[in-house]
Amino acid sequence: MGDKSARFWETLTLDEMNEEQWEALCDGCALCCMLKVEDEDTGEIFYTDVACKLLDLDTCRCMDYANRVRRVADCLDLSSGDTDAFEWLPASCAYRRLAKDEPLPEWHPLITGDPDSVHDAGISVRGKVVSEREATGWSILWNVSEMHEDQMNDYPTIPLVNYEEYPVEEMRRRAQTFYESVSGRRTVREFSDREVPLDIIETALKAAGTAPSGANLQPWHFVVVSGAETRKKIREAAEAEEREFYEHRASEEWLAALAPLGTDESKPFLETAPYLIAIFLQKYAELEDGTKVKHYYPVESTGIATGILITALHEAGLVTLTHTPSPMRFLSEILDRPKSERPFLLLVVGYPADDARVPDIDRKPLEAFTSFVDE
Ligand SMILES: Cc1cc2nc3c(=O)[nH]c(=O)nc-3n(C[C@H](O)[C@H](O)[C@H](O)COP(=O)(O)O)c2cc1C
Ligand code: SF4
Ligand code: SF4
Repeated sequence: MGDKSARFWETLTLDEMNEEQWEALCDGCALCCMLKVEDEDTGEIFYTDVACKLLDLDTCRCMDYANRVRRVADCLDLSSGDTDAFEWLPASCAYRRLAKDEPLPEWHPLITGDPDSVHDAGISVRGKVVSEREATGWSILWNVSEMHEDQMNDYPTIPLVNYEEYPVEEMRRRAQTFYESVSGRRTVREFSDREVPLDIIETALKAAGTAPSGANLQPWHFVVVSGAETRKKIREAAEAEEREFYEHRASEEWLAALAPLGTDESKPFLETAPYLIAIFLQKYAELEDGTKVKHYYPVESTGIATGILITALHEAGLVTLTHTPSPMRFLSEILDRPKSERPFLLLVVGYPADDARVPDIDRKPLEAFTSFVDE
């Protein structure tokens, strides 16, 4: 089934399929074999929990497929042009999906190669219904349009439970409080050597791990370095790169931009601060069998995660220095990171030194970095 050329449903229209291909599209869910009712007022279609008398409840297959239309007046005799009949089919049904240019769901037997995958995925009626031959009444089991919303999706969903709406005034107050808090964040370059409990760093990292990411691939890795020996190695390598930068590589323009910050090649904080968090972005993931899985927007995603980390550490009462010794390849070597990752930045974390000072610089006002389009 992995053979691309065999994936006829991706290249042929319903009209172009031969009988064998047409029949193979049926996943065997038997949803269309349920007795159905239509709400006359709304036109909504419901499947009941009662199955057609000819349905074998174990196999979910018709017991007399060849004669089905003659024996059961309501049996849907599908044909490619009869798109009205497709409205009676669940959103998972291959006929309905292909007619709307939607892909087959992941669990479809044509994709898995396993006829039972429709049952294993919980899509079929197996174990959920009774036969018309034995039923004493019926109840509504599914609303076809609602099935489209959740049950029949080929990806699971859960209710949005953690969202909380606030009255507008409360919203305003919370936005202001957060702004005031983050506006107190400063990049600090003079650190105390006081210890910080590791669990606080871990909690801030958990917050970073909630960042949105391209296709939810979470393309980041954080290495928390507290050992003196490794910090020393990192300092030596960073200072060597920075020396090169300040003496040779930096353009006049770049040095001029850095002048108000008073930074230079000396990086004692790399040994003073209790933690260095080396942040790596993963260009791709490598599975155990060596297969590479491409990551989408790793730079943007890792940048957002880093922003959340910096903010979380600030909220916890710590200070950080966003450090980017350039180039940072030495971090991959010292920390033994795989080729699929590239160093993103080095975050220095701890308490500020008692007499820490920061550059006297301004932040742009809102109107200088925002525009509003309201028409
Ligand atoms: C991507 C990035 C790289 C940075 N690299 C360095 C660096 O290598 N060394 C340094 O001292 N500061 C570095 N900074 C810190 C900036 O200089 C600092 O954020 C900026 O001057 C604003 O100051 P504030 O963070 O106190 O608001 C970096 C910041 C960012 C976002
Ligand atoms: S709903 Fe579609 S896929 Fe399921 S049994 Fe009927 S025709 Fe086959
Ligand atoms: S006759 Fe067969 S195919 Fe038609 S609804 Fe009944 S069980 Fe399904």
